[in-house]
Amino acid sequence: MTPILTTALTGLLLAGGVLAKHDIVPGAAWTASNTGRHIQAHGHGITYEDGVYYMIGEEKSEGSSFQAVNCYSSTNLVDWDFVGNLISRDDSEPDLGPNRIIERPKVLKNDQTGKYVLFLHVDSSDYKDARVGWGTGDTICGEYNYLGSSRPLGKQSRDIGVFKEEDGTAYLLTEDREYGTRIMRLSEDYLSVEEITMEWEYFAESPAMVKRGGTYYIFGSHLTGWNPNDNVYSTAQNLSGPWTEWTEFAPVGTNTYSSQVSFVLPLGDDNAIYMGDRWFPNNLGASEYIWLPLQIDGNTVRLDWYDNWSVDMEAGTWQPGFPYAEYEAEAAELSNEARLLDCGGCSGSQMVGYIGGPQGGTVSFDVEAACDGDVTLVLKYRNGDKVTTTTFGARNAIVSVGGVEQTVDFPSTRHKGGQTAESVVQTAVKEGSNIVAVSGADGWGPDLDVLLVPGLSCGS
Ligand SMILES: *[C@@H]1O[C@H](CO)[C@@H](O)[C@H](O)[C@H]1NC(C)=O
Ligand SMILES: *[C@@H]1O[C@H](CO)[C@@H](O)[C@H](O)[C@H]1NC(C)=O
Repeated sequence: MTPILTTALTGLLLAGGVLAKHDIVPGAAWTASNTGRHIQAHGHGITYEDGVYYMIGEEKSEGSSFQAVNCYSSTNLVDWDFVGNLISRDDSEPDLGPNRIIERPKVLKNDQTGKYVLFLHVDSSDYKDARVGWGTGDTICGEYNYLGSSRPLGKQSRDIGVFKEEDGTAYLLTEDREYGTRIMRLSEDYLSVEEITMEWEYFAESPAMVKRGGTYYIFGSHLTGWNPNDNVYSTAQNLSGPWTEWTEFAPVGTNTYSSQVSFVLPLGDDNAIYMGDRWFPNNLGASEYIWLPLQIDGNTVRLDWYDNWSVDMEAGTWQPGFPYAEYEAEAAELSNEARLLDCGGCSGSQMVGYIGGPQGGTVSFDVEAACDGDVTLVLKYRNGDKVTTTTFGARNAIVSVGGVEQTVDFPSTRHKGGQTAESVVQTAVKEGSNIVAVSGADGWGPDLDVLLVPGLSCGS
């Protein structure tokens, strides 16, 4: 087995290199620390307060119709805890009943009223309502009081975003299928729309905006349903314009790395993080989060792909990931009936199946670490389970690292056409040998292809 890279990597380290870090792995399953489930915060926004990031988005485990708006919290954008529902299905409230559409929840704090204001795209299942819904809450992740929905200034409004200026003035970003895209100024309490600040006869779906220096950057996608397209952006010095021509920011043809913009989070003074959804229409609950650093230079924005990268929110910096060592499951120790299976889409054309189950099949990897540290493990897996209306075909496994156990989610990979998927495990290792054991949680676990372990930077 390959030991975690040590000396080779130390040479790559930046001065004052990090001793420990957790990586962002775009496109992997991200298990919330306290639920054992893939994060259900699709169409998300992030609201920041007092050193904590709140990821607010849609529960999609039962498909496209409204189930709940969920809130997760994190201090580092990597380890997420589920906190609660802002709103959930409510048969006594017509907008929130079964077969309704509630998408793209966004929360802003109103500094004057002290209330948290929740903005929603509210629709009927045929998308004819095209309204904005409002709610208010006293705490960011607590229950919200739903206030109802309307068409802003009488205009259709589908996917929305919001933007708050330093002076507290806030704007609704909205797409009107009869016209195009608008920026609308909100009232002082954020509970209604006052006026149109800017409008384009151009469709930018799921608009998201960030301000860096004196420049505004607005992002949006074309209209291709759940399928991804080459998303676009425009910039201006004034919200009323003039705005630059809409243009792509990721390499054309990648369909924005198969994602749709949902939110753009400021990072430090000059940087920002692109946050998108990679939708799986046949398994919406398994839809993945594509988060990548945006490279901003004046009016130019570029998005490069990184298999993994890390961010230091406090310092406002990010860095690409280190090379990972690969531990094939077929070379690991198998016990309790876990056994080798052929797998065309796997590295080495083999994987290990029969993990979990009645016999408690287990795969144990012996991972050598050069020092103590936080690491992000990546497990490549397959799970051929059918997706039903009430599950995203997830299988759980208990992943134990040096005896510390956590439940990790492995959503169905049926929609990947035989390819493997990735699930990440945010954990810590100790200097020397670490046994990483994967066993069942309840029922069968996933079939495992390979365990990837990043190079630890151990200082010099
Ligand atoms: C932005 O443009 C509007 C409309 O032209 C103008 O009234 C406003 O003063 C401008 N704001 C700034 C900060 O220049
Ligand atoms: C992480 O990124 C590095 C380089 O940026 C790459 O070598 C490595 O394979 C990546 N690991 C995973 C698990 O994607």
